[in-house]
Amino acid sequence: MNPKQEVVNHILAHRTESPMTEADAFAPANIALCKYWGKRDTELNLPVTSSLSLSLGSLGSQCHLSFCEERHQVVLNDEPLDPNSPFVVRLSQYLDLFRRDTDRYYRVETLNTIPTAAGFASSASGFASTVLALDKLHGWCLSEIELSILARLGSGSACRSLWQGFVEWHAGETETGMDCFAQPITTAWPELRIGLLVLEAGKKPIGSREAMQRTVETSPLYASWPHKVAADIQIIRKAIEENNFEALGAAAESNALTMHATMMGATPAVVYWLPESVETMHRVWKLRREGLPLYFTMDAGPNVKLLFLDKDRQHVEEHFPDLLVAQ
Ligand code: DP6
Repeated sequence: MNPKQEVVNHILAHRTESPMTEADAFAPANIALCKYWGKRDTELNLPVTSSLSLSLGSLGSQCHLSFCEERHQVVLNDEPLDPNSPFVVRLSQYLDLFRRDTDRYYRVETLNTIPTAAGFASSASGFASTVLALDKLHGWCLSEIELSILARLGSGSACRSLWQGFVEWHAGETETGMDCFAQPITTAWPELRIGLLVLEAGKKPIGSREAMQRTVETSPLYASWPHKVAADIQIIRKAIEENNFEALGAAAESNALTMHATMMGATPAVVYWLPESVETMHRVWKLRREGLPLYFTMDAGPNVKLLFLDKDRQHVEEHFPDLLVAQ
């Protein structure tokens, strides 16, 4: 049996079904402040290191789930998707893990409130909202840990998208990954803001899944990554606890830059940065030299996310009028 199916069977083993006809669930997108980059198990999406993220409030995915016949149906932002498209094939394989009644398929209708077309990752909120809706549809009443493990099987970062605020994903050690799940960090920090800057809306030259694997397999710089994460995650945890913005921003920015450095060392090199990305970094550094507490982070793409405090929001928006601030 495939290892994902074993995990799902294990989690659902003693659950009784009390299915509904339809279910709805929302999950926020999340941006890692300390990144997940590299897997120790590519099948189960088990990471090499722990990671820590901030969720994006109302920016995410709203999933409406029901049953249908013959094959899975996926509708994204009111448009039915081609059943043979890579995304639907991947989602269908995931949904197959949960089918008990072999005659019944799922109809997934997802509305993304995060602008997918603008190049923002929606797979984390997409898989997380689907898992929450599956749990409601079947009436399983799974625990948050179980839901996080199931979301991880869809996409690693999805296991962090079940909560708002700060979330830590524990790398775990076991082969089955039953100790590899995310949990919320309860410290509140209402003044912290994250804003998204769309610099390039086109398709990325290489997907994050492939880029991550190539980095692990070929980059000589990857060996230093777990040490970097171990140091940064401690600093970030403490910064959150103390609401220390400079410490948080500096560690998150350095963590993102180091992740990109490991990719650049891969063969062939993975370079997501565009001239506009680099120009934005220089603008952030200049504004910081001039006294504005502003930091950035970047994921596997050319777009830049800005970190700042609410008191500086107006000032930041004057410099970046197109900024989409998460609420
Ligand atoms: C750079 O979670 O999309 O955004 O597990 O293969 O689906 P898979 O990868 P995914 O990778 C996210 C990578 C990242 C960093 C992060 O979110 O921590």
